[in-house]
Amino acid sequence: MILITGGAGFIGANFVLDWLAGCDEVIVNLDKLTYAGNLDSLKSVINDKRHVFVQGDIGDSHRIKQLLTQYQPRAVVNFAAESHVDRSIHGPGDFIQTNIVGTFHLLESIRGYWNELNSGSKREFRFLHVSTDEVYGSLAQEDPAFCETNAYQPNSPYSASKAASDHLVRAYHHTYGLPVLTTNCSNNYGPFHFPEKLIPLIIVNALSGKALPVYGDGQQIRDWLYVKDHCSALRQVLAYGQPGETYNIGGWNEQANLDIVHTVCNLLDEFRPRTDGRKYSEQITFVTDRPGHDRRYAIDARKIEQELGWKPAETFASGIRKTVQWYLDNPEWVANVQSGAYRDWVAKHYATGENNDA
Ligand code: NAD
Ligand code: TYD
Repeated sequence: MILITGGAGFIGANFVLDWLAGCDEVIVNLDKLTYAGNLDSLKSVINDKRHVFVQGDIGDSHRIKQLLTQYQPRAVVNFAAESHVDRSIHGPGDFIQTNIVGTFHLLESIRGYWNELNSGSKREFRFLHVSTDEVYGSLAQEDPAFCETNAYQPNSPYSASKAASDHLVRAYHHTYGLPVLTTNCSNNYGPFHFPEKLIPLIIVNALSGKALPVYGDGQQIRDWLYVKDHCSALRQVLAYGQPGETYNIGGWNEQANLDIVHTVCNLLDEFRPRTDGRKYSEQITFVTDRPGHDRRYAIDARKIEQELGWKPAETFASGIRKTVQWYLDNPEWVANVQSGAYRDWVAKHYATGENNDA
C-alpha cells in the first residue's frame, strides 16, 4: 500500500480518485482537514475498503510513526501543504509550520521507518514530494522556461516555504540516502479546486453575479495543467523516477490571467448564458495587484517527457471545458464550500480595502 498526505485537498483528492480507478492497491490518506481539506471530494470512495482516511498532521511524529508501523507503506506521497499565495501574504505562519516544520517532522519519521526496513524494501521504498514551479521565481517575457537546473528564487512566503521543504527533501537523500523524488509542477486546474484560486473563483463568482477580480493588469502568465495530467505524471514518477532526481511537470500552456478569465466567461456564455442576455465578461473587475506578484511562470517539461515518457492527455481547450462543466454539474459541492470558512476568507480578502477596485 501507499501512504499519502493532504489527500482531501484539490490535487490529493484527484490523485486518490484516479489511483483507485486504476488499481486495487490500498491508499492510506492522512489529512489535517484544514479549510482546504474537503471530504466531500472523496464522497465516492469514503466507504471503499481500498481507501483509509486518517485525520492528522504531518508534523505529528507520533501519529506518523504509528501509521507507518501499522500500514508498512512501500511509498509516501506528500501533498500536504498550505498552498494559497494570497493567504501566505496575509499570514505566513501556517506556511512555515506545515510546509517547512511539518515536512521536516514527516521526513524524520520516514527516515526512522525506512532505516528499519529489510534491504529489499529499503531499496524499493520511495518518498515523493509534490512541489511547485513557484520555487524558481518569476520569468521575464524573453526568458526560457524553468528547467530542473534553474536556481531557486522564491518570492512569496508560500514559494519560500515550498523551496525550504524541497531543500530538506534533497538533503535527506544526499545525507541519509533516503530514496526521494521531487516534482515541481505548474498551476493546476480541474474538479474539486477550492474557489479561492483563480479559475474556480471566476466560475463561482460569475454564476453568482459577483465581480470577477483580476489583479493588476491581468497580464501575468501562468502555465496551466489539467489536474488529472498532474496525477498521471506523479504516478509515472513514483513508478519510474530515479531516486534523488527532480522532475518539472507542465503542459506547455502559458496563458495570461485575463485570457483565462475571458475563456471561462465565454464557456459560461455557451453552457449557461446569463438570464439578462448580457456577457459574463461584463463582470470582470480590475483590482489592486498582489504584492510581489510573480509576472510569469513556464515549465520546460522535456525531462519527464523524454526520460519517463509522460505526456498530458488534455489540451487546455479540452481541460477547461471539462472543468467549467464539472462546476456546473456539481452545485452541491460548490454550495458546501461556500457555506464554510471560504466565505469568511473572501470577505476578509476582498473587502479590507487591499483588493478593492483599483
Ligand atoms: P490544497 O490546499 O487544495 O490541499 C492541501 C491539503 O493538505 C488539504 O487537504 C489540507 O487539509 C492538507 N493539509 C494542510 N496542512 C496539513 C498538515 N499540517 N498535515 C496534514 N494535512 C495538511 O492544495 P493542492 O492545490 O491540492 O496542492 C497539493 C500540493 O501540490 C501542495 O504541496 C502544493 O504546494 C502543490 N502544488 C499545487 C499546485 C496547484 O496549482 N494547486 C501546483 C503545483 C504544486
Ligand atoms: P492563483 O490561482 O492564486 O495561483 P498562483 O498564485 O499560485 O499562481 O492565481 C493564479 C493567477 O491569477 C495569479 O497570477 C494571481 C491571479 N489572480 C487574480 O488575478 N485574481 C484572483 O482573484 C486570484 C485568486 C488570482
